[in-house]
Amino acid sequence: MMMLSEMIHCRKTTRQFEKTALDSADLTKIETFARALTPLLAHIKTDFQIIDSSLVKNMLPWKTPHYIAIFSEEKENFGVNVGFMFQQLDLYVQSLGLGCYWFGLGKLAYRQDIENMKFVVLMGVGHPKNSAIRSTSGFRRKRLEEISDQRDERLEPARLAPSGKNAQPWFFTHEDDVIHCYCKPKGMFSQAASPSQINQIDIGCALAHLYVTNPNTFRFHIFPNPPSKDGCAYIGSFQI
Ligand SMILES: Cc1cc2nc3c(=O)[nH]c(=O)nc-3n(C[C@H](O)[C@H](O)[C@H](O)COP(=O)(O)O)c2cc1C
Repeated sequence: MMMLSEMIHCRKTTRQFEKTALDSADLTKIETFARALTPLLAHIKTDFQIIDSSLVKNMLPWKTPHYIAIFSEEKENFGVNVGFMFQQLDLYVQSLGLGCYWFGLGKLAYRQDIENMKFVVLMGVGHPKNSAIRSTSGFRRKRLEEISDQRDERLEPARLAPSGKNAQPWFFTHEDDVIHCYCKPKGMFSQAASPSQINQIDIGCALAHLYVTNPNTFRFHIFPNPPSKDGCAYIGSFQI
């Protein structure tokens, strides 16, 4: 089994699945790992349910055997926290040789509220029809220079993160040994001041890759007066 930090360089979104359900041993592994995810913002309560496809409204041409429905308290930056936590699960699922994808457009077919938490997003999981991994050359991503104020190889794991519509809305600036993280939304009509829920999850995914690569040194803080950056919303700062 590959390590999660290695998965960053070969993972990919799987959209074509075998019809067969996962066996209970795999479902138990996923459930156990998901219960132990590291949060970015530990004060925000989250939860999840592993459900089958009959509970999801899916207009997509492909069928997915299982979904993970993710819930969170609606506190500031809850989307970033969800992305940070469940991108760790994306890497784990793929390290088992299984396929998965973030399904930002997915909706539950049932009404579900759990203890003041709202439904946030779905992830699909199952046996992939084709290989669940690829080589680094298979990634379509911005260049390192486009996502940071200086070329910094330590940001390579963030560069490779998945994002809704592959928008890659992250931007990083450096100040001594601190790196500030911003959301730089695409398109003139996007609200830089308040990143969309999907953009928040995207940024969480990028931060998760930095955490997984630097698990012992990654520290995240939200500064009250961060440097402002035109057209960007400040998310938080970290050391790695
Ligand atoms: C928050 C989020 C939402 C996403 N929503 C969808 C979706 O609704 N449908 C879909 O096919 N892919 C979805 N994706 C997958 C992205 O399209 C994919 O990550 C991106 O194109 C990069 O491809 P890769 O993951 O294979 O590297 C989503 C990804 C993220 C992070």
